[in-house]
Amino acid sequence: MYKEIIIKDITEMNEFALKVSKEIFPGFILCLEGDLGAGKTTFTKFLGLGMGFTDNINSPTFTILKIYEGELNLNHMDVYRLNGIGADYDLEEYIYSDDVCVIEWYKNIIESIPEERLVIEIEIIDETKRLLKIEGVGKYEKIVQKISN
Ligand SMILES: Nc1ncnc2c1ncn2[C@@H]1O[C@H](COP(=O)(O)OP(=O)(O)O)[C@@H](O)[C@H]1O
Ligand SMILES: [Mg+2]
Repeated sequence: MYKEIIIKDITEMNEFALKVSKEIFPGFILCLEGDLGAGKTTFTKFLGLGMGFTDNINSPTFTILKIYEGELNLNHMDVYRLNGIGADYDLEEYIYSDDVCVIEWYKNIIESIPEERLVIEIEIIDETKRLLKIEGVGKYEKIVQKISN
């Protein structure tokens, strides 16, 4: 299932992330793609708020993985620096788990990512406007439908 939606500003991004947070289940895999400054981390912050995390979620670029512990753990990864290594066996423990995983620059470790996943690619249209390309495989197909309207 593939859908595209336009987000006109950061408030709409917040609303969208809240909608996504309602679809979360243990083992949820969410892959984010998009240029620097597109809004991957901003989206994740809003998603975290939707999951009940009040701690400030910020860019994990220099740590690769940050874990927020809650009813469901949120594993926030930014694998930008793992520049196309294909697989990362250390991270797989966190990916194949009951935690919720959000992975920025997921293509860099594509071989470690299950095929059943939700992918959101964020394209910058202008300063505040974004095009979201949303793709879901398997159990994520109906989620694409729900979050895109
Ligand atoms: N509609 C929007 N959605 C997300 N971020 C937005 C939007 N409009 C403006 N921004 C700004 O764009 C920047 C996105 O940065 P960030 O989330 O760190 O991007 P990335 O993680 O993709 O590099 C932030 O400064 C944010 O305030
Ligand atoms: Mg980021």
